[in-house]
Formats: sequence, structure tokens, C-alpha cells
Amino acid sequence: MCGIVGYVGGQASLEVVIDGLRRLEYRGYDSAGVALVTNDGLFTEKRAGKLSNLDVALADVETPPSTTGIGHTRWATHGAPTDRNAHPHLGRQGRVALVHNGIIENFAALRSKLEAAGHELESDTDTEVAAHLLEAEVAAGADLTEAMQGVCRQLEGAFTLVAVSPDAPDRVVAARRNSPLVVGLGEGENFVASDVAAFIEHTREALELGQDQVVTITRDEVEVTDFRGNPAEGKPFHIDWDIAAAEKGGYDYFMLKEIDEQPRAIADTLLGRLSETGQLQLDEMRLSDDDLRAIDKIIIIACGTAFHAGLVAKYAIEHWTRIPCEVELSSEFRYRDPIIDRDTMVIAISQSGETMDTLMALRHARGQRAKVLAISNSNGSTIPRESDAVLYTRAGPEIAVASTKAFLTQIVACYLIALYLAQVRGTKYGDEIAEIVGQLEEIPAAVTEVLASLEPVRELAREMGAARLVLFLGRHVGYPVALEGALKLKELAYIHAEGFAAGELKHGPIALVEQGTPVFVVVPPKGRGPLHDKMISSIQEVRARGARTIVLADQGDDRVLPYADQLVALPTVPTLMQPLVATVPLQVFACEMAMVKGHDVDQPRNLAKSVTVE
Ligand code: G6P
Repeated sequence: MCGIVGYVGGQASLEVVIDGLRRLEYRGYDSAGVALVTNDGLFTEKRAGKLSNLDVALADVETPPSTTGIGHTRWATHGAPTDRNAHPHLGRQGRVALVHNGIIENFAALRSKLEAAGHELESDTDTEVAAHLLEAEVAAGADLTEAMQGVCRQLEGAFTLVAVSPDAPDRVVAARRNSPLVVGLGEGENFVASDVAAFIEHTREALELGQDQVVTITRDEVEVTDFRGNPAEGKPFHIDWDIAAAEKGGYDYFMLKEIDEQPRAIADTLLGRLSETGQLQLDEMRLSDDDLRAIDKIIIIACGTAFHAGLVAKYAIEHWTRIPCEVELSSEFRYRDPIIDRDTMVIAISQSGETMDTLMALRHARGQRAKVLAISNSNGSTIPRESDAVLYTRAGPEIAVASTKAFLTQIVACYLIALYLAQVRGTKYGDEIAEIVGQLEEIPAAVTEVLASLEPVRELAREMGAARLVLFLGRHVGYPVALEGALKLKELAYIHAEGFAAGELKHGPIALVEQGTPVFVVVPPKGRGPLHDKMISSIQEVRARGARTIVLADQGDDRVLPYADQLVALPTVPTLMQPLVATVPLQVFACEMAMVKGHDVDQPRNLAKSVTVE
């Protein structure tokens, strides 16, 4: 949610900043802007809409030389996505430029104070208030770093701020509270950004910042303090993914590439987590075995696609560990006064590790002394940092807004945690655990097989471009798969799509079915006796009312054939593994449908990948 870049070094800052914004555009694309420090003061340019609009505007002007600059790509919160509300925002005299990610909650009070003191604010944003305050601190004699510390002490809410001023031409000053900020450590150049993707082509060495810290970068130095100016330290880390991982690599869209990367992502997430003796080794698990044995309840918190991964995981966790498991939307969790104590384990699932709803839910859980375990795809992000234990998915950077490979690896990570708990608590024998791990290890090949067979699904999407309603049905672990299939279609094709538990169909949703309504049905593996039978009844029920059925079922599941207008054959895998193969055709269907409709697959309207506001 909003991407931020700052640069100081020997290169042309405009290019570095624009390239960085291009890699961060997944975070928001309502507007984009830059501010550069030049010999003649600040040069700024900003435009509503995607970064390409800013590119066009910049092509029309001569940009003065500069080696210090900041940039911003916006997901609007305060104020419409217009040129006027685009960042950077300037102080009263135009002596500081500031970009911001987050929400300044006390901005109305601060704005009134500024206006009473004669300040005229041009935009509707909360950010401009901070820019005016920052410049006022500088005007009162503070240097830019002290000014930033002073401003941060006045602000409430969530913010990452990055500022430059021609009065301090060789530095960029940034601050963070709740919102993400990392420092890139180069040779004779340094960077700040919302995410390492912004500077990965320049350096792999980075610094993770803590809560309520201010960082000042110059070409050769990085200085970290708290909001009072006391020295503080960041935590260095190495970025081990390759630049190619953040490139499209010949694909038209990141999403297409990320769908294809799923077999590798799953294999990487499993890698090295089973010892030669069959013992599961989760090095990142910092809770003691006694802690794990004492757990009497698990609550999974997550948003969006990660929530669906949690819904899948519940089945495995309860089945393998016999610990009751609830799954809750992060944004609902803390407002219902959940019953949690020191024997509750809260599992926070977040690809980005920055989702504010999940972070706040996690803090609530910790406040109640629950044990918190994070599953995340982003090293150094806030949610893992604030958790008692972490299991990283190793999906590599996921850039398309609609999540794909993160989803499958989140399920795998949850399964590993469930098996670990089963091992520690003795609810499964070692050979049983090894058998399940063996099943997981076969999934990359099964997903590869699915990916190779999806041309008919693409064709179906091309043919169904005009559909206005698509339904998805599932049972057991197929139910969250149905929810995820519907979410993908909403996000990408902007079609009304709903996922239902097939058993609920007759209690209401079946009223939606008309002649020709497309209904995707995820059929449980054929070995699942009654579950399989019930699903066949559901298919018959919708078909009897005119639905066009697209049936995802095991290869060789002959019993579904008479009821399938289209059959998508899946490799035969155990029931709990089925989501890992059955989701893939639904991702591909949604992606293809979006392309047919001419939508930007990687950047669907109104969405952002990392939602850092509540
Ligand atoms: C946003 C994204 C979704 C994602 C959700 C949770 O809404 O558009 O794709 O599933 O956030 O993100 P997280 O990073 O916490 O997994």
C-alpha cells in the first residue's frame, strides 16, 4: 500500500527512483511522483494514474541533474487520486518534499492548528500536514534528521515518511511506525524503500528497521535513531533472491510467471525441513517443546487469499494434531474480544508480513499472552519480527497483486507446522509424518502436470468472457478452494463470483442458478465415499436447474462424467493435498478471463498487494 523510494549516491537519482517505483507499483497505482534535489532547489513532478503517466510527463520536461531523490506510488486513502493529492508534498516554502505511506490518524487536529497559524494546504491528504510540520521544524533551526524526529513525535497512526531538502542536499531522511521501510546498503550509495525489490538491482545487502525509528542516509553513511534522537540499530540481512525473480522473464504478466513458479515454490518451501531420520526440523520455531505441548487452541488470523490458506489448514491441523483450530479474518478478530490466553497459539499468515489488519490482530493476541507464530514470504517484515516464531515460505517475490504461489506455499507451511505439532505432542508416529511429508514432496510434480494440461481451461475462459456471474462449489478442503477461485475471478475479471460450501447450496445460493450459469465444482477425491457421493448430488441439483458445470475431479473419476459439461481432470492426490492441485486451474481461468477482457492482470483496479492501513 503505497510504494516509497529514496536514493542518494553517484547515479542519476531520477532513473534509480523511477526504476524503484516500477518495482513497487504493485503496492498502489493511483498516482506517482518524484522529488529530486538539484542545484536550483527541488524539482518535483507528479501525476494521477499509473507510473506510465508520470513517465509521459517527465518525457516532456528537462530534468536537471540530481543524485538525491525520492519517489512515491500511491494507493489513495485521504483524498481522491488526483495530481493535486499525489505525493511528494511540499512544505509551505517548498523547502522540503515528503512522501508517505500509512495513515496519520491525528491529521485533522494538526491541520486545524497549521491553518490557524496561517498555513494554506493545497491537498486533501494527511501527508501534506506532515510536510508543513517538517519544514516548520527546519525553519526553526533543526537539521532535517532532527526535524523528522520532531515531526514523528507529533504524529499518531501508521506511517513511513521519506523526505529531502535542498538545505541538506546529500541526505535522505526516513522514519517508520507500523508501516514498512528497509534500507539498501550500497557502495557509495544508499537506498530506502518500502520493499527490497526497489533496490535489488543495485545491492543485496539491507538493513531492517525497528518500530519508531528514523534513518538518515548519505552516500557513505547510514545513521539510525529513535524518535528522540537516541542512537539505535537496524538489523542487517542479505537478500538471497535473484534479480531475475523480480523480472517478468519473458511472460506478459508477473501473474503468469508466478503461476508457473508454483512447483518450485512448493519444493523450496519443503526443502531441508525433514532430517535424514525423518524428524521434522523447523529451525525457525523458537518456542520450546513444552510451550507447544501446552497449547490447547489454535487461532489462525489472515486476510484475503492468506485467509483461504488458513481455512484449508484448519482441516489438516485438527486432523493431525487434535487441537481445536479456528480461522478468523484479522480485521474481525480483536473486535470480538476473543478468548485467548498463554496456551493459545495464534498463527498469523501474511505473504507480505505487513498487512495492518493482521499486524494489529497479532499485537492484540500477544497482549493477551498468546504464542504467536508467523507464516510469511517476506524476510525482515514486521509480522515475523513481532512474532514468537516464524516459518518462511520460500515462494520468492510475488509481485502480481492477485496471490498465487504464496497461497500454495502458505498451505504447505501450515501443514509443516501441523506435522511439527503432531510430532512434538505425539499425535502421529514418525512413520506417519514421513508418509505425509512424502505426499507433500510429490505435489510439485503434480502441479507441473496440472499446469501442462490447462489449455482447455484457457479456452473456456476465452469463451466465457461475457459471463456476469460464476459460482464455485466445494466441500471439506474443496470449500476454501471454491472461495479462492471466486476471489481470483472477482479480483481479476471484475465478475460477480461466489464460492459456496456445496452442502449449503440448497439453503439459499441455488436461487442464483439460471439457465447457463457457469458453476465450477471441486469434487473430493473419489476415495472419499460419502463426501464424493454428496458432491455428485450437488452437481446434479445445479444441473437440473440449467447450470453449466465445470467439474474439477480426479483423473479416472468416471462417476462425475455424466454431470460434467466440462471436465478438468486433476492428478490423484490424498484429500488434504487436493487444494494444492485444484486451485491452479482456477487461478489460470481467472487470469485468462482478465486478459480476454483487456484488464491489467498484475494491477487490478482499486486493489493493492500490501495493505498497510486498517
Ligand atoms: C491484499 C492482497 C491480497 C492478499 C491480502 C493479504 O488484499 O490484494 O492478494 O491476499 O492483501 O495479504 P498478505 O500480504 O497479508 O498475505
